[in-house]
Amino acid sequence: MQTVKLNNGVDMPILGYGVFLVDPKECERCVTDAIDVGYRMIDTAQAYYNEEGVGNAIKKSGIKREDFFLVTKVWITNSGEEKAAKSIDESLKKLQTDYVDLLLIHQPFGDYYGTYRAMEKAYKEGKVRAIGVSNFFPDRFVDLCNFVEIKPMVNQMETHVFQQQKVLRKYLDKFDTRLMSWSPMARGENNFFNNEVLKSIGNKYNRTVAQIALRFLTQENVIVIPKSTHKERMKENFDILDFELSSEDMETLRKLDKGESIFVNHYDPEFVQSIINY
Ligand SMILES: NC(=O)c1ccc[n+]([C@@H]2O[C@H](COP(=O)([O-])OP(=O)(O)OC[C@H]3O[C@@H](n4cnc5c(N)ncnc54)[C@H](OP(=O)(O)O)[C@@H]3O)[C@@H](O)[C@H]2O)c1
Repeated sequence: MQTVKLNNGVDMPILGYGVFLVDPKECERCVTDAIDVGYRMIDTAQAYYNEEGVGNAIKKSGIKREDFFLVTKVWITNSGEEKAAKSIDESLKKLQTDYVDLLLIHQPFGDYYGTYRAMEKAYKEGKVRAIGVSNFFPDRFVDLCNFVEIKPMVNQMETHVFQQQKVLRKYLDKFDTRLMSWSPMARGENNFFNNEVLKSIGNKYNRTVAQIALRFLTQENVIVIPKSTHKERMKENFDILDFELSSEDMETLRKLDKGESIFVNHYDPEFVQSIINY
């Protein structure tokens, strides 16, 4: 598996499997299928309520723990140094492991500085191999980077052909932080799977819309974690690293960028209130 080197030297797979909106009852089966397909990086979160399913699938796979790259995220209700530290231990218990490979702050709300300090401590104690953030837009990202001891290794953001995070990327480079995409296929929104540009490029390479979109991101060194509950689609989404898009096609795909979220606005107070209540 192709990897991306994080700023602390850790190699992270560029392609993994995400389990947002995977029913906790179905999660073990889904992750077992994903492992069977070949995925070794799994992205979960405290707020997905399915860390146990991920842990069970990994345990039962019989594959060595060190062959996996496990990602989880601390939720807003666990923000603050003490609560976050406790929640990290709870996540480890649910995941049935004594370390995670990457731990992220899920949202930039609540006492996230306290959360970050707990994560730095967990990192130093060996409970976590890398730390980072998620949904930290350029303003909060730059703020955090200026006041923490260990610079975030990853920022997981909504990133797909319609939102390519061009502004944020400049600041990620400044602090040597890698971009990890959430919703790399725009969760199917915006008529994604019928997009004419993606379809016509797909026809040239004999690849599907999903494969072109995922290849586009990975070719720009963006880490992706496509989600599917269907094994055939898991295979399709995994089979993307054995071909290359031409620079002309990459340029065409870059032009699909609308420069804004297709889901939510993190600067909208109503959204902030709703996510804090989640
Ligand atoms: N940090 C954050 O705030 C955040 C937010 C959102 C997501 N994430 C992470 O990012 C991961 C991926 O994002 P996402 O789940 O929102 O969206 P996504 O991976 O862009 O898209 C998933 C959707 O596309 C469908 N799909 C998957 N592969 C397909 C294919 N080859 N052909 C047709 N349809 C396909 C899936 O349906 P089926 O399942 O029915 O196949 C599902 O409806 C999540 O699972 C999660 O780990 C993080």
